[in-house]
Amino acid sequence: MKLLMMGPPGAGKGTQAKKIVGDYHLSNISTGEMFRDSYRKKESLGLLAMEFIRDGHLVSDEITIEIVRRRLFESNKEKNFLLDGFPRTIFQAEALADMLDVMQSSLDAVIQIVVSDDVILTRMVGRRSCSICGATYHLDFKPPKVENVCDSCGGVLYQREDDKRESVKNRLDIYKIKTQPLIEYYKSRGLLYEVDGEKSFEGVYQEIKAVLEGLA
Ligand code: AP5
Ligand code: MG
Ligand code: ZN
Repeated sequence: MKLLMMGPPGAGKGTQAKKIVGDYHLSNISTGEMFRDSYRKKESLGLLAMEFIRDGHLVSDEITIEIVRRRLFESNKEKNFLLDGFPRTIFQAEALADMLDVMQSSLDAVIQIVVSDDVILTRMVGRRSCSICGATYHLDFKPPKVENVCDSCGGVLYQREDDKRESVKNRLDIYKIKTQPLIEYYKSRGLLYEVDGEKSFEGVYQEIKAVLEGLA
């Protein structure tokens, strides 16, 4: 199965993606996670990408497409995957279509998590992420068992730099201009499934699951 998880920043893409890839045995490919991981390792790619990410801007199409291409074609081609946060522009979507052509494959579904701007702000302000494994928590909605410590790996939790108010605003603006057109792009190809992202963690998951069961 080949899936895309789309939705505005803070919609819950990463949270749902982690659960789905576990249950459906898919590789989780998150461009945001890949950039943050590379930054933590102080690689030049990560350091460069963070210059854009910090202020809420997109990393260039060229760099982003290249890291996805490498990931999809490494270890003799990924067969079952979920892409979280890619594509984010029409140009990236076209590049992905070309990659899938080469793989003689195609997408099964694009899941769009729908949430309002107000909900997004509450979610981002309270989000905390693990500095080691990238797991995501929320101070009110999903607190860790021990304050500031990751339940799964014991890593210290931190607040992402791009969750500052000004960056969040940029991310939302850019989402509307550059990424929202992808909704029409995938709808016109009959691939788009919208789910209500304002439900509980489990409520959203059940909606996504219903979509995936319907594909089989
Ligand atoms: P990326 O990491 O993809 O960030 P994003 O799209 O802004 O999305 P987030 O990770 O912030 O939110 P999410 O939807 O995953 O929500 P989460 O599950 O954490 O990208 C970061 C940056 O990298 C970009 O801004 C860009 O600069 C660059 N980049 C990445 N991909 C790129 C590309 N393709 N091209 C160019 N640049 C690229 O949930 C949020 C919070 O809400 C959490 O605290 C969670 O616990 C809570 N929550 C989730 N669901 C619920 C629920 N149902 N109820 C209550 N709380 C909930
Ligand atoms: Mg995420
Ligand atoms: Zn962790």
